[in-house]
Amino acid sequence: MNEKKGRILSGMRPTGKLHLGNYVGALENWVKLQEEYENYHLVADWHVLTTQCEDTENIGNDTIDMVIDWIGAGIDPRKSPMFAQSNIKEHAELHLLFSMLVTVPRLERNPTVKEQIKDLHLEGKVSYGHLGYPVLQAADILIYKADLVPVGEDQLPHVELTREIARRFNYLYGDVFPEPDAKLTAFSRLPGTDGKRMSKSAGNVILLSDEPEVISKKIMSAITDPEKIRKGDPGKPEICTVYTYHTKFNSEECNGIERDCRSGKLGCVECKKRLSKKVIDFLEPFRKNRAYYLEHIDEIKDILLDGEKRAREVASKTMDDVHRAMKLG
Ligand code: TRP
Repeated sequence: MNEKKGRILSGMRPTGKLHLGNYVGALENWVKLQEEYENYHLVADWHVLTTQCEDTENIGNDTIDMVIDWIGAGIDPRKSPMFAQSNIKEHAELHLLFSMLVTVPRLERNPTVKEQIKDLHLEGKVSYGHLGYPVLQAADILIYKADLVPVGEDQLPHVELTREIARRFNYLYGDVFPEPDAKLTAFSRLPGTDGKRMSKSAGNVILLSDEPEVISKKIMSAITDPEKIRKGDPGKPEICTVYTYHTKFNSEECNGIERDCRSGKLGCVECKKRLSKKVIDFLEPFRKNRAYYLEHIDEIKDILLDGEKRAREVASKTMDDVHRAMKLG
């Protein structure tokens, strides 16, 4: 037994408590993949600095909060090491070496970075570290010689760059790195309760840690088909956020819900109540786990320490390979 298909490196910026969108878009996939692959889970805390280097106060707490949710969702720390990037200094060294292999125009062409620069109004004043964060990400991935990287679509340009860097390194210095593939998440986007992109800053998220009353309240105020005003009005599930949630969290009742929504037999209030119950039940184990770990924060710290040890072992071996290949100390 224990024959794994390969190695996965997955990473997330520490954003604190996670929401259902994080779960559906990434975490759920991580949990599934941990049986088949050898997984390394990175807390990308240096990456946070690209957009908020003035304010580092909460990064530590956000890391703990996020890792509690990872574990709450079913990531098993005995199987899959979890660790903070900033504790494995080898990432920084590999980033420096890789930074010589990439041109500035190549980095400036990266569509995800371009979009961020536009959204944050950073034209003409983007930092060197921000422009180069995909190179750091390449180091995160390649230092573990990962074969697969589970990501959302916005991260595909970074995986492509990672492959180019691996190729260039291997061409110049000899074969050290695999060319990792991206693994896109199947159900990649769960909308926020207002039907728009789910994000904490938009205030439209359901947190994995939300209490049952809070979940109910959020779902009761969710956007549905605007033309279905009262029970009896025929609805259009295909444009209804609540229905999208039913497809994810209540798939066995979906056919009936769709039929009764269209005919007008099912009103939005009842439909939302049924969804609330499902989501509350679904998140029950997450809340239980979180409650336990909040009382045992030391265990989270130990898990991170153990993850760090296991990650460093691999990372330092890779750096030995790199030094040998480059004939550098
Ligand atoms: N850039 C990723 C994000 O913004 C986070 C990240 C950093 C990452 N290093 C990684 C993701 C390595 C996958 C692999 O979400």
